[in-house]
Amino acid sequence: MRTDYCGLIDTRYLDQMVTIKGWVHRRRDHGGVIFIDLRDREGLVQVVIDPDTPEAFSTADSCRNEFVLAITGLVRRRPEGTTNSNLVSGEIEILAKQIEILNSATTPPFQIDEENLSENVRLTNRVIDLRRPAMQRNLRLRYRVAMGVRNYLDKQGFIDVETPMLTRSTPEGARDYLVPSRVHPGEFFALPQSPQLFKQLLMVAGFDRYYQITKCFRDEDLRADRQPEFTQIDLETSFLNENEIMDITEGMARHIFQDVLNVDLGEFPRMTYNDAMYYYGSDKPDLRVSLQFTELTDVMKTEEFKVFRGAADMPNGRVVALRVPGGSSLSRKDIDDYTQFVAIYGAKGLAYIKVNDASKITNDENSGLQSPIVKFLSVAALTEIINRTGAQNGDIIFFGADKAKVVNEAIGALRIKIGHERGEAGGYFVKAWRPLWVVDFPMFEYDEDDDRWTACHHPFTSPKPGHEDLMETNPGACLARAYDMVLNGWEIGGGSVRIHRADVQEKVFNALKITPEEQQNKFGFLLDNLKFGAPPHGGLAFGLDRLVTLMCGAESIRDVIAFPKTQRAQCLLTQAPNAVDEKQLKELNLRLRQKAETPSS
Ligand code: AMO
Ligand code: AMP
Repeated sequence: MRTDYCGLIDTRYLDQMVTIKGWVHRRRDHGGVIFIDLRDREGLVQVVIDPDTPEAFSTADSCRNEFVLAITGLVRRRPEGTTNSNLVSGEIEILAKQIEILNSATTPPFQIDEENLSENVRLTNRVIDLRRPAMQRNLRLRYRVAMGVRNYLDKQGFIDVETPMLTRSTPEGARDYLVPSRVHPGEFFALPQSPQLFKQLLMVAGFDRYYQITKCFRDEDLRADRQPEFTQIDLETSFLNENEIMDITEGMARHIFQDVLNVDLGEFPRMTYNDAMYYYGSDKPDLRVSLQFTELTDVMKTEEFKVFRGAADMPNGRVVALRVPGGSSLSRKDIDDYTQFVAIYGAKGLAYIKVNDASKITNDENSGLQSPIVKFLSVAALTEIINRTGAQNGDIIFFGADKAKVVNEAIGALRIKIGHERGEAGGYFVKAWRPLWVVDFPMFEYDEDDDRWTACHHPFTSPKPGHEDLMETNPGACLARAYDMVLNGWEIGGGSVRIHRADVQEKVFNALKITPEEQQNKFGFLLDNLKFGAPPHGGLAFGLDRLVTLMCGAESIRDVIAFPKTQRAQCLLTQAPNAVDEKQLKELNLRLRQKAETPSS
């Protein structure tokens, strides 16, 4: 019988016989003595096998990496100078008396402690990859977060109710994953993009406080923080307003961080969506970086410089400055690199001014302000730029001028990049947890490609009291009772107070140009049931994968999911998705149109 985990054997066990079971992490032959580091989920322990135990010695001699062993031996102190303070077991070693090979192993595709493996190799050999201590740590932290959530919500009176995976399309606005029905030829289930509609129905049904840790499916473009199949901590409450919902969920985030990381997140500041866009160009500002935008659109409306004036005069144009303290030491090449970087976001250039002497504001590019653009700007505008940004000698000021969307994305991304690269030395980055709420989101955003308004959150989100009529008269100005929780630049949760009145819901659908037939077809089951005395209700969903990624300090959400998909939405381990038999297709009444081409996005 195993007496304890390898990684937990320490000086408490000195002079005791122990039995451990695990994998050969490393085997070293030190001329006459064999060392095996045996690994289990708790870590490593060093085992010494000397020729005095010939049977154990010859077994050890035949062991290779990743063999599975049971070892019985005596715990003794490691000799002076050979202790390892990185290991719990670092002061002891086990002198083997008996070794049993429980299973052999073929040579693994890589060593467990190999670094810089490509992600493709890791995902193809995910089982071996999961043996790595970092992955074990990540998944255990994930489990502790989930337990923290359950404990907290249970105490707050929430109950876990499961909702279907085979269902109708839900309104989160991504593409659906569809499942063909065999029983109903030509008809399809959609996998849920979230439990949104069901959780609202549970409120109508009187459950009052619901939660679920559940899978959601969205066929959308993937990035480091997105998976086609991801997990939400989804919750909904009745009779609470947005402040009460934010209090409960903020309390949950604080509880988890305290419980799992022993970190006090403190009270979350709240920022309006407008302020977030105005100062950071983002609805999920990374507040670890203290750099802010300076608005210049108004100043540039009377300037001759085409690049700035053109943007200032556009209906959706914007001109901003980003002041970087100490940035005048940036080289030509640094600036070129940043220019290429903002081009990814559609910026057509990256104008800059190096502030050599803020007291000498002239159009001479070799005077106080060093820049190819000062000759195009009036001294009044240059003075305003220096005053508004508060620039000091030695700073650099970058400029973005374009449609607001391009400026916000490009200069917003530049802000983060420079903040992370140079901010710690420059005093404008703190290594810390910086949570916040972003509130007062707009109800709608304009989709230029489709020439119509779409719901910013989803169409069941309630407008702010008093904003109902704006939906008709000025949809762009209508604010929603929606809120996002943001942490270090990631949107980790989002929710809203819902509409519970039929007349308001109708106005939203009208604004979104969803016809009554479409409403009934898509959401009829919700709308019909909202009529049976729906209580005021609202909720929020956290992205569990994102939350855990941040808490682990991982780079990508794929590092906190046991069996994730690649950026191209494939599972390299199982090679899914895959072609299926003609017979299966026939049963489902499906015929492939042609050998499918890979979609462009
Ligand atoms: P939303 O669409 O904002 O809201 O999703 C909630 C949270 O889920 C996470 N998330 C994702 N995580 C990984 N991969 C993805 N593809 C992905 N998409 C979203 C984010 C996000 O904040 N039903 C509403 C919630 C509500 O109103 O209560 C909803 O799903 O962290
Ligand atoms: P140009 O007149 O195009 O040579 O641009 C003059 C300067 O303005 C260069 O430094 C460009 O990088 C910069 N620039 C051009 N377009 C933009 C833009 N949309 N936003 C910010 N800077 C720009």
